[in-house]
This record gives sequence, C-alpha cells and structure tokens, in this order.
Amino acid sequence: MNFPYEHAFLGLGNMAEAILASMLKVAKTDPKQIIVCRRNTAKLKKQAKQWRVPSTKQVKEAASQSQYIWLGVKPQQAQELLSEIASNINKSQIIISMMAGISIKTIKQAINANCTVIRIMPNTPAMLGHGAIGAYFPKNLQANIKNKIKKILQGMGKLEILSQEKLLDAVTGLSGSGPAFIYQIAQAMIQGAMNEGLTQKQAKSLCIQTLLGASKMLELTKKTPEQLSQAVTSKGGTTEAGLKILAKHKVFKSITLAVEQAIQRAQILRSENETCLF
Ligand SMILES: NC(=O)c1ccc[n+]([C@@H]2O[C@H](COP(=O)([O-])OP(=O)(O)OC[C@H]3O[C@@H](n4cnc5c(N)ncnc54)[C@H](OP(=O)(O)O)[C@@H]3O)[C@@H](O)[C@H]2O)c1
Repeated sequence: MNFPYEHAFLGLGNMAEAILASMLKVAKTDPKQIIVCRRNTAKLKKQAKQWRVPSTKQVKEAASQSQYIWLGVKPQQAQELLSEIASNINKSQIIISMMAGISIKTIKQAINANCTVIRIMPNTPAMLGHGAIGAYFPKNLQANIKNKIKKILQGMGKLEILSQEKLLDAVTGLSGSGPAFIYQIAQAMIQGAMNEGLTQKQAKSLCIQTLLGASKMLELTKKTPEQLSQAVTSKGGTTEAGLKILAKHKVFKSITLAVEQAIQRAQILRSENETCLF
C-alpha cells in the first residue's frame, strides 16, 4: 500500500523532536516524506517551519496517511490519542512507540488493529546524536523494515536491541532516567568546586570535561569502572579522601537504588496501564 508520507509524528515534544532531527540530519530523510502533528497550533507551526516538514493538527489525517507512525505523546496522553486513531490504522502500517510503560499488547488493544508495533526507549541526549536507545522489535518483523528503523535510531546515538520487551523497563530506569542522575552528580561536583573558590564557569567547564573524559576512558580502555577507579586512587591521596566520603554516605548504594527504583516504577506504570488505562 502506498502512503503520501513515510513517517508521521503524533506528538512533537522533546523526545519526538530529537528523533525527527536524527531522521532529517543523519538518515537524510526527505522532509516532504514526514508529517508532524500536535495540538498546540503556535508550537506546531514553529516546529514545522524550523524543520521544513508538513504539519497537521488532525492526528487521524497524519496517522492514516503514513507508513510509519511514531507515538511521541506522554503515557498519560496515550489513551486519548490511540482511541482517536484507532479506526485509521491498517495492518500494513508500522507503529513505533517511544512511550514509557505502555506495552505492545496494550497499544494493539487500544487501536484494535493487528499492525506491527515496535517499542523504543531513547533519552534526550539523542537530540545531539549522543542518545542511549533501547529497542524491541517483534520477532516476525521483516529485515528491511528493521534495518530502516535501526538506521534512524543509530543516528541518535548508541542502540541496544533487546531480546524481550520487558527489558525496556530496565532501559527506562538506566538510560531513560539516567541523564537526570548524572546531572545531579554534576551539580554536586560543581557546587563542591565553587565552595572552594572556582567560578561557576570554570567549575562547569572542568566538570563537563571530566564527565566526557571518564566516559571515554570507560568506552575506549575496555576496563571496568572499578578498575579505572582503583587506577586513579593512591593510598593517602586526594581521590581516596573523596571516595571515603562517598562510601560513608552510601553514594554507591544510593545510585544503585535510584536506578532500581526507576526500573520498578516503569514496571508498575506498565502493569497499571495494562490493567486500567484501556
Ligand atoms: N523526555 C525524555 O527524556 C524521554 C525519554 C524516553 C522516553 N520518553 C517518552 O517520550 C514520550 C514523550 O515525552 P516528552 O518528554 O517528549 O513529552 P512532551 O515534551 O510533553 O511531548 C508530548 C507531545 O505530545 C503532544 N500531544 C499530547 N497529546 C496529544 C494529542 N492528543 N494529539 C497530538 N499531540 C499530542 C504534545 O503537544 P500538544 O500539547 O501541542 O498537543 C507534545 O508535543 C513519553 O511517552 C515518554 O515516556 C521521554
């Protein structure tokens, strides 16, 4: 079946716009092949102009005219959106949902159509091409479709393909929520340095480079975080003094718990959505 558009974005907030940017800049998709949709007219017009893509306020129109439908609304907005597009989706269309905590089964039930649903869990650094993205593709998905979506997602950063849909909850807690955890660590490090005399500009600049450098060390040396930490900690030295404070305040345990808690919250949201949202 031929569609006037290749991709429709239903919802164009932070996350969907990051994917749109990757689609245009990295996957080099023709902007005329994409239609975007949201309810706020002023924001829709502004974004359509910025990205030079067609737009509509009618979700039904966007959904029925596109081969690939990207769901970019908040989970709590899903029910309204999915019931609106329910009768406009057919078997040949592919839905890609970035919504946290709403399963493929729930989406299919809500639209009452046996089309293909792919789930992804990106994070906001995707807007800079540095995202961490988990994706679950249904087992029977055609290779050419899978490759096409993989190429778009790889343009947004690092892609991990998951063998089970439920693992998206773990991705949600780790890399979906993870940037916020890192921002807190950054804020705390900057504050510590400012308390001892650095300007905010200096502290921020050095902190950013420290995070980037440490990430590169983790990526390129192939050493474990533990090995790298030991390598920069000498007995009686400055790093050891700082690490003792982290241990005293159970920072390692707290961060582990924060990730676990975020994952558990994703699991709870998913089961709540399965039982009562639709
Ligand atoms: N932000 C993240 O870090 C992150 C990470 C991973 C996954 N996600 C997932 O990505 C999804 C979007 O999150 P976000 O942070 O991008 O949210 P957001 O900025 O609030 O974007 C939601 C978008 O949906 C639109 N929308 C809501 N209801 C609509 C409707 N009935 N019809 C058409 N458009 C509608 C909103 O625009 P109007 O109000 O103009 O309609 C807005 O553009 C969520 O499901 C979230 O779980 C987000």
